[in-house]
Amino acid sequence: MKINARRLDAEKDVPAHGTGVSRRSLFTSVATGVGLSVLEPVFGALPAFASAPALPGLDPNKYGDAKQTAEVLAITVKELDQAISFKNAGNLLRLAFHDSGTFNGRLGTGGANGSIAFETSQSANGGLLFGVNLMKRIKKKIDAQSPVPIGFADLVALAGARSVKVTGGPDIKIPVGRPDVTVADPPGMLPSETLTADGLKKLFADNGYSVQDLVALSGAHTIGISRTHPPVGLPLDIISPNTFDTKYFQLLLNPEKPLGFFPSDNALVTDPETKAYVVKFANDKQAFFKAFSDAYLKLTLKGVEPTSA
Ligand code: HEM
Repeated sequence: MKINARRLDAEKDVPAHGTGVSRRSLFTSVATGVGLSVLEPVFGALPAFASAPALPGLDPNKYGDAKQTAEVLAITVKELDQAISFKNAGNLLRLAFHDSGTFNGRLGTGGANGSIAFETSQSANGGLLFGVNLMKRIKKKIDAQSPVPIGFADLVALAGARSVKVTGGPDIKIPVGRPDVTVADPPGMLPSETLTADGLKKLFADNGYSVQDLVALSGAHTIGISRTHPPVGLPLDIISPNTFDTKYFQLLLNPEKPLGFFPSDNALVTDPETKAYVVKFANDKQAFFKAFSDAYLKLTLKGVEPTSA
């Protein structure tokens, strides 16, 4: 595969915002009847809201009793699934990362707290005003129907999970009850696209992630586009930019040269430990989906549990 395939594929496969051919119909089966799925148990046999000690930072009563919580969640997931398509899924998944990924284990700051609403002017968050504004519009629609307003941190974390599902990825169950903050987290905590494998491994390890988590989470670049980083408007995964699949990892293993979008993507095949996971995920979709789901759950609980680093 030649590197210039990127532009050709992008022109063919990624719609300009608001002008592309809608592929919503592809996702109709996902968008209907899924409301109850998040009500299934999250941690094995433990009902999602039953045990405060297992999830000390979550507020089990944020949405009232279990029945009312279920109602709020059903409304939330219905509205999210109506709004999410391959056109905005990448932005919303990145939004969830940039809300939670500010967690700093050493300082005990950041995490999945809804602070992204106050951080769109931070340089790391270029392109995310789109997602924040979409979240605000969806929140208004949810709150108009719901007995209790949905929290912003929960909404952003749920939106990332539904974005994965709507684009063909795993159905990730996450609990709710995250406390919301009303100020920005300290800037400078998110990874730079120029990080080497060692730099990525250190940053992620410092914040409580395994090497498997790092590689699996990087697989989020299987969907979405670059909105601010050159070349702007092009897909991160040139084979199947609208589908959450293993093609991202296959691109990294391209024999001529790795075809990830960012240096930090291509760095994953320069280190034997990270490369082993790239190879594994390239060849085993279920292994990728399981590792991504586990890591996403961890990501969206960062900063919620005081000891989660
Ligand atoms: C490992 C370190 C990571 C680095 C250095 C990185 C960096 C970036 C950069 C520079 C962009 C382009 C932003 C723009 O110009 O619009 C981007 C896009 C994106 N990132 Fe990451 N990222 C990382 C990890 C993650 C993780 C963990 C997730 C989610 C779990 C994620 C999800 C996304 C998605 C979905 C997009 C496309 C956004 C869109 O379509 O608007 N990234 N990333």
